[in-house]
Amino acid sequence: ATTLPYPQTAVAKAQSLPQNKVVHFNYPDESSPCVVIRMGHPVPGGVGPNMDIVAYSTLCTHMGCPVSYDPASLDFKCPCHFSVFDSEKMGQMVTGQATENLPKIRLEYDTSSDSVTAVGVDGLIFGRQANIL
Ligand code: FES
Repeated sequence: ATTLPYPQTAVAKAQSLPQNKVVHFNYPDESSPCVVIRMGHPVPGGVGPNMDIVAYSTLCTHMGCPVSYDPASLDFKCPCHFSVFDSEKMGQMVTGQATENLPKIRLEYDTSSDSVTAVGVDGLIFGRQANIL
C-alpha cells in the first residue's frame, strides 16, 4: 500500500488568532472538521511565536460526535458520551468512552509571513482507515 502525502493547508496568521477561542478549518480535506486554538501560554506541540498554537480534529474518537472546546477547563468535551480530551496535552483522553486521543493536526509556523500551516495528522481521524482518502 502507498501512503499518500499530506497536503499543506494555510490555517491562519498567528497574530489574527483570538486567545483561548476556537477557529474552525478543515483538514486534510473538506469532510474533516478541525479547530485551531491560540492557548495564550506555551503547550506541548504548540507552534508560533509563543509556542501556544495547537489544532485538533473535532470528531470524537469514540463514535465521531463533534466535540466542543470548553475555554474554562481548556478541554474538549463530547456531548454524546462525555469523553474529555486535554488541549494542553496533545489531545490526551482524560475520561470517558473513547480509547484514543483526539487526533492532533501537525502545524508549522513561518516567522516571516506569520503563517500557520497544517502539514499532517497524528492519530487516526474517526471513521477512517487512513487519514488521506
Ligand atoms: Fe464521544 Fe461517544 S462519541 S464519547
